[in-house]
Amino acid sequence: MSGPVIRPRRLRQSPAWRRLARETRVDAAQLILPMFVAEGAAEPRPIASMPGVVQHSLDSFRVELQRAAAAGIGGVMLFGVPVEKDATGSGATDPDGILNVATRVAAAEVGDALVVQTDLCLDEFTDHGHCGVLDAAGRVDNDATLVRYREMALAQAEAGSGLVGLSGMMDGQVAAVREVLDAAGRADVPILGYAAKYASAFYGPFREAVQSSLVGDRRTYQLDPANRREGLREALIDVEEGADVVMVKPAMSYLDVLADTAAASPVPVWAYQVSGEYAMIAAAAGNGWIDGDRAVDESLTSIVRAGADAVLSYFALDAAERWARA
Ligand code: PBG
Repeated sequence: MSGPVIRPRRLRQSPAWRRLARETRVDAAQLILPMFVAEGAAEPRPIASMPGVVQHSLDSFRVELQRAAAAGIGGVMLFGVPVEKDATGSGATDPDGILNVATRVAAAEVGDALVVQTDLCLDEFTDHGHCGVLDAAGRVDNDATLVRYREMALAQAEAGSGLVGLSGMMDGQVAAVREVLDAAGRADVPILGYAAKYASAFYGPFREAVQSSLVGDRRTYQLDPANRREGLREALIDVEEGADVVMVKPAMSYLDVLADTAAASPVPVWAYQVSGEYAMIAAAAGNGWIDGDRAVDESLTSIVRAGADAVLSYFALDAAERWARA
């Protein structure tokens, strides 16, 4: 009896062969580190549900930015944690608001080495925790929110943002922000559309990270996790409205949407490995239940394999530094 003629194992037989046969490689340059900066913090504050991630003070922020630049990652995505919140999220458009201050610091410190990106959404700044402003009935008012997003875009561009990340999932947000930036002579500022952002339980730890005061949920504006076609549709709308990059978020539970989007999009497609994805891996690794480094590499590789051109991940810096040592 003869054995099989076709033997795929031939190309897996040694480390050298596996290296040569590898289809997907992840480079530090395609990783983006999300960072939290807390107004008035004298020291970095740990985030319990995200072991290893902190709300930065301005000092610890500067140190981490230098680390990120030295590690050769692609960029940072900034989130602000303000002291005061109100109904319209005033802190988001105040030039002295924490996110705009942090953006100026980052642009000055590492603006040549990294793409300094900013979250353009109101939820960190509103006392009700929604991504937009509310109407008299307490519903998120799409078009009134666009007015605030326009103001926020100008404030972030002024502060030196290298890319505004529109994560609020309001209809027409990309077109509105593109229009106001262009009219202000800021055609140079790129827009990332969080095109397919799902109403996900995996954002749980992020709510602690930015001390969100949200009551209720975001299901009237974020996508239903059951909808695949709608994710692609949202991405195509963002492209049509002028997005320079589109994103799928979360990543690991939405690789089908990511693959669809990557196949159809004429612009780069990024994916966001969100706080809950980080927390699951970090917690299991911390308990010795999985090999953390392997799980991180496998998850990032899967996201790139599915079609992401770049990945936002809280593991970005640790992974890049570890790869550089290997
Ligand atoms: C909204 C925003 C959220 C995240 C990024 N931008 C929160 C949300 O929509 O509920 C979540 C990111 C994460 O969980 O890591 N500004």
